[in-house]
Amino acid sequence: MTETAVAAQENPLAEGLRMRRPPEPFALAIFGASGDLTQRKLMPALYALVFRGLLPESFGIVGVARTEMSTEEFRERMREAVTEHARDEFREDVWQRLAERLSYVAADFGVKDGEKPLAAALDELDRTAGTAGNRVYYLAVPPKAIAAIVTALGQARTASGWTRLIVEKPFGYDLASARELNDLVHEYFEEKEIYRIDHYLGKETVQNMLVLRFANGIFEPIWNRVFIDHVQITVAESLGVEGRGDFYDETGAMRDVVQNHMLQLVALTAMEPPIDFEAEAVRNEKVKVLRALHTPGPKHVVRGQFGPGFIEGKPVPGFREEPGVRPDSETETYIAAKLYVDNWRWADTPFYIRTGKRLPRRETTIAIQFQRAPHPPFEVEEALRPNVLLIHIQPDEGVSLAVGAKVPGQGVSIRTVHMDFLYGGAFRVGLPEAYERLILDCLLGDATLFTRADEVEEQWAIVDAMVAPWQRDRPHFPNYAAGSWGPHAADELLHRDGRSWRRH
Ligand code: BG6
Repeated sequence: MTETAVAAQENPLAEGLRMRRPPEPFALAIFGASGDLTQRKLMPALYALVFRGLLPESFGIVGVARTEMSTEEFRERMREAVTEHARDEFREDVWQRLAERLSYVAADFGVKDGEKPLAAALDELDRTAGTAGNRVYYLAVPPKAIAAIVTALGQARTASGWTRLIVEKPFGYDLASARELNDLVHEYFEEKEIYRIDHYLGKETVQNMLVLRFANGIFEPIWNRVFIDHVQITVAESLGVEGRGDFYDETGAMRDVVQNHMLQLVALTAMEPPIDFEAEAVRNEKVKVLRALHTPGPKHVVRGQFGPGFIEGKPVPGFREEPGVRPDSETETYIAAKLYVDNWRWADTPFYIRTGKRLPRRETTIAIQFQRAPHPPFEVEEALRPNVLLIHIQPDEGVSLAVGAKVPGQGVSIRTVHMDFLYGGAFRVGLPEAYERLILDCLLGDATLFTRADEVEEQWAIVDAMVAPWQRDRPHFPNYAAGSWGPHAADELLHRDGRSWRRH
């Protein structure tokens, strides 16, 4: 048995990331290696994979950024990052296994021959670390830096093994720029070599949506307009912009979260059963939903921006007071919208979505609200409460079904109770971080949980349609206090339809 297999067998946690065949040897170049994502997510995820023996014996990782830094300094920084952010305990032996394969190259891809030092470092890994010419380029860089890197990498493509390109979101700024970026990337890379990341798809609970729907016989027959009154999807964060003021001021909630994470959640909730769980089958079904998706008009899209307020009793500044944000910024930090999926399954069934920064707490949920009982024979108001299937994406990961139950005692008194499945209680293992799953999938050449070119373009088409009216109407910002559940208009959006957001 190889060392890797032994480690995996001894470590039951490896089950959490199902042990398929081990990845082939590879050299991974991380662009944006001095950035926040590398420290908070990528390096801790790589550490978790080494911890579980899920990486092959032969691999090398090269951090790339413009900042001058030695390999020793880079390793030291990454060690701190892992100590601070990894979900596992820090183990010196595990760290050393990762650290000895880490190196750093300072490079500027914006200048002529800027890619040469990296190419040399990767070739060196092929010779010394047995990485067999297999390349993964991870672009954890701001959108404006992508084009130069892709062009340089593409023009210099010589590797003898396979090549894969991981691109972080946001992929473009609108439909036109996403198309341009797709065209550029396709000049040098085939679609099957491109892995557009949406880390929501790497979340266990998001994937469980597919298992819940398609591995259980009881849901699918009622998963449609006849039995479901509407769907509510919430991605709430209590965090603000966390030192990313400049980025966020240019991006806003629509492009940061709705275009990718939320539309993925809508697609997974609404899609038809795929014929198998292969990349093309799953993505084909999601694309069909995105094509059928529309918002009925500008008054069904609500935007907001937080002003000063309180989070957990502590005062916090408004968005416009955050470092890096323009003092007269009209960027939205909150979106609520009503969407329809125009097909046989969902016609006239609203999907209400909402997301925001500086809301009272962190919560991502999908609530499927069923139709009321048609004729409850009990004359109590509670008997009219609809059943709700609540999928807790995070935190408190699990699924809960709200049903009416008789309160013990004389007469009929009804109360809503919950049938709960909690991940923490049902499974012994902790949940893997999304990035662990996604990096491993890419190393295995499995693109199922990555966004395809046509999918990302459909997402942008929906976003473009939603933001187009904003050019005419100036917002009255700020319009919600930090620590509140968003602007009043978001409540009105549902009240107009005789509905309301789930109680908090
Ligand atoms: C990122 C956004 O994609 O997702 C952030 O850029 C946001 O603004 C984050 O905070 C939310 O991710 P998670 O996994 O914490 O729900």
